[in-house]
Amino acid sequence: MPIRIANFMGKFGWEMQKKFPKLSSQSYLKAMFLLRRKSQKDYIEYFMRDPEHVPYPNVVNLETINRCNSNCAFCTANIYAEKRPYMYMTDEMFHKIIDELADWGYKGHLTMYGNNEPLLDKNIVERHRYAREKLPDCFIFMSTNGLLLNVEKLKEIAPYMNQLIINNYCEDMVFRPGVQQVIDYVKANPEEFKDLDILVQMRYVKAVLTNRAGSAPNRQNEKEKVIKETCLMPYTDMWITPDGRLGYCCCDNFEVTELANLKDCTVAEGWNSKKYQQFRERVRRGRQYDPLCKHCDFIDAGLRMHMVNEILKEDRKSGGKSREDLGSRIADTFAQKTK
Ligand SMILES: C[S@@+](CC[C@H](N)C(=O)[O-])C[C@H]1O[C@@H](n2cnc3c(N)ncnc32)[C@H](O)[C@@H]1O
Ligand code: SF4
Ligand code: SF4
Repeated sequence: MPIRIANFMGKFGWEMQKKFPKLSSQSYLKAMFLLRRKSQKDYIEYFMRDPEHVPYPNVVNLETINRCNSNCAFCTANIYAEKRPYMYMTDEMFHKIIDELADWGYKGHLTMYGNNEPLLDKNIVERHRYAREKLPDCFIFMSTNGLLLNVEKLKEIAPYMNQLIINNYCEDMVFRPGVQQVIDYVKANPEEFKDLDILVQMRYVKAVLTNRAGSAPNRQNEKEKVIKETCLMPYTDMWITPDGRLGYCCCDNFEVTELANLKDCTVAEGWNSKKYQQFRERVRRGRQYDPLCKHCDFIDAGLRMHMVNEILKEDRKSGGKSREDLGSRIADTFAQKTK
């Protein structure tokens, strides 16, 4: 079945998010930090074993436009909270990035969304086509709120991606008509989408999630706690803004950090830059050593943890050899598995 429907903990989870929004998010985050602490540290040590030769990223995130059309209470990109100067990635910058990823031999995960709604980019289908052609081994995925999605758009973009996540943000646990149409069509025509993993998630639009380095609109009135955990994002994710800067991660919602600028260097040079390594050194010791990270309680939903656990398993098996190649090889294996 090429379509999966998910609703985190069903009706019970939904009611918990509605009635005890802070409690359910705080207990989830606490549990995740506890459960993942050791693997996070192990991966960071693995990554930093030879700082001159760091592994590939596991996820490259390209934000091609910095706007959204929705109103999720937890997200800075929502139409009421948006503060960023408008930016749109030029074709020149887009092609440079994709071509350089191909030259670099990148085979991990690739997304063409960031803190935005990717279907607002009028060239998004063509951009996926180009990326698919140049990076045939990458696992290309998209997360969308589905507001601009319909069967026609799905058919256009499906050949160029491996996974499509449709987040149905709502208050009432009901699929919007457009999303329901897509579900019905895919169920009726499974052969047509047999190579695409489609995941539809029922999401509460007023959920309380992570504070995203203090930027989440519905976490503004809290006393800022200093978080002394490490974080995987500097070692797993390359985050590219529409004007071609490598920022910290998805939690730099206002797009103010700059670890490298692709106007002046290649993606490989940016990823290996001194500034990036200094940032990684700070976070390796704990979030408290970085001014943006120190109050950030973000932890990824699970994709990165899964990847790094697979990489660590392989690393142990190989006795710590060929580490550089391992990152891309494992990301590739993971992509095949989730197809
Ligand atoms: C920023 S959205 C961009 C893609 C698309 N607009 C969507 O919502 O699927 C990507 C992911 O970030 C999540 N997100 C947004 N704000 C968040 C927060 N404060 N904490 C954790 N995740 C958040 C969204 O729920 C979504 O799963
Ligand atoms: S989570 Fe996605 S859909 Fe919701 S406001 Fe943010 S970018 Fe838009
Ligand atoms: S602590 Fe937050 S801001 Fe810092 S790298 Fe991690 S997710 Fe990004």
